[in-house]
Amino acid sequence: MTKKCFIVTFECVYILTAVLGNRIDEIVIETLTNRDNYSSASVHDKYIYYTSLTPFGLVPPISENVTSFEMNAGCQGGCILLNDAANLEGNNSYEICFNAFHFLIYIARMSGDDSVVLKTVDIPEILTICDDYTQVWVRWKDGVIGFGTGSIGLNEKITTTDSKPFRVYGVGVTSFYLGVWRVNIKAIPTGYYCAMTYTYCYTQLLSVSTQKIKTYCASECQKSNDCVGFNYRYGGSMNCELIEGGNIIETEDDYEWHYYAKCLQDKTACLKCR
Ligand SMILES: *[C@@H]1O[C@H](CO)[C@@H](O)[C@H](O)[C@H]1NC(C)=O
Ligand SMILES: *[C@@H]1O[C@H](CO)[C@@H](O)[C@H](O)[C@H]1NC(C)=O
Ligand SMILES: *[C@@H]1O[C@H](CO)[C@@H](O)[C@H](O)[C@H]1NC(C)=O
Repeated sequence: MTKKCFIVTFECVYILTAVLGNRIDEIVIETLTNRDNYSSASVHDKYIYYTSLTPFGLVPPISENVTSFEMNAGCQGGCILLNDAANLEGNNSYEICFNAFHFLIYIARMSGDDSVVLKTVDIPEILTICDDYTQVWVRWKDGVIGFGTGSIGLNEKITTTDSKPFRVYGVGVTSFYLGVWRVNIKAIPTGYYCAMTYTYCYTQLLSVSTQKIKTYCASECQKSNDCVGFNYRYGGSMNCELIEGGNIIETEDDYEWHYYAKCLQDKTACLKCR
């Protein structure tokens, strides 16, 4: 059973558009980074433009030195970041980028303020993916970094060796046009919610009830496999609205309501509206 969660990230702000089920095993993340902002950032600040996949609990786990997902990096390309810290803020990174203008893939090593391209290859076909998903994988071990398409280990498109390898703990993605990444995860919501005050989420509701305190509303949501968050209003009746996954969610400022989004694993991977 595949259960999905959609997260939209623009300049690394998460927007939840939909989610299905309590045991989410796939997230769909949309990214969009302004290329000029990204290009003008200093090397040690590039990570700001990446969405970290690590908090969602990747399958296979990063400890296996490989990651794999379906991507549609958009018609302008994008990058995958491997970093020596789970939050991508570490000093050492590999960047695997798809430059759609120049029809190439390159692997760069970033360290502190330095960025060195380790390898470049011309691969037009990988970039004809504007309107389709491609399964891709990245492997790394003892300084050997490889990228390919299809099942893990097959169709290697680029590989290189870094003389100063580091241990990878974080994976991030970015794109310079709307990019979509479908990632297998092993996520079990643990009961945390993150608050978006004075925000109301318009979407399909599972139920509406009157709850004296917010915690009761949260526990109603926690009990439901299909609840991805709730709208809560202090006072009044019918003040607890459970939000159903699998639907597009839109939000609006609202002086009465607060939106609470379910978090996966712990507080680090919350399904925010925006
Ligand atoms: C670059 O980033 C800044 C700050 O986040 C933002 O205000 C600006 O709109 C961005 N530039 C473009 C061209 O989107
Ligand atoms: C990154 O480098 C800076 C300056 O060299 C150092 O202070 C910091 O501890 C390093 N961070 C990590 C995570 O190694
Ligand atoms: C992953 O890479 C590290 C560092 O190169 C290595 O110590 C470890 O054994 C590797 N793990 C696997 C599962 O290959």
